[in-house]
Amino acid sequence: MLIQQQDVQQVANAMMNMLHEDEMEVINNFYDAVKAKDVDKVDELFPGFLAEIETHFKTEEDMMEQSAYSDMQMHKSDHDLIRKKLEKFHKRWEVLKGPKELQGFLEKDFKKWYTQHITKWDAQTAPNIG
Ligand SMILES: [Fe+2]
Ligand SMILES: [Fe+2]
Repeated sequence: MLIQQQDVQQVANAMMNMLHEDEMEVINNFYDAVKAKDVDKVDELFPGFLAEIETHFKTEEDMMEQSAYSDMQMHKSDHDLIRKKLEKFHKRWEVLKGPKELQGFLEKDFKKWYTQHITKWDAQTAPNIG
C-alpha cells in the first residue's frame, strides 16, 4: 500500500473527496504490482492507473472552469507537473520495464506530490467550486 486514507486530507467538496477515495484503491493496486515486480500485472494496470488520474484532474478542472475559479491556472499547472512526470515514467516503462525505477518514483515523487497537492490546492479550491 502506497497511500492510506489518513494520508489524504478531506476537503470541503464531496465530489473531490469521492474522486480521491475512488482513486486510492487504483493507486494502491498499481503500486502493489510494481513493488512485487510483477511486470505483466504492471503492464495490465498501467493504462487504468493513468486513466483514473486523468479523470480526477479533468473533473476538477471542469468544475473550476464552470465556477470560473480565479486560481484555476495555478491549480491546473500543478496537475500538469505530475502529468508530465507520469508520461515520462510511462514511456520509460514501455522501453525498460523497470519496476525498481517506477517504485522509486511512486514512493518519493508521486506520493509526496499527491498528498501535498490535495492539502494545498484541492483544499484551497474545494469551497469555491461545485
Ligand atoms: Fe484532487
Ligand atoms: Fe487538484
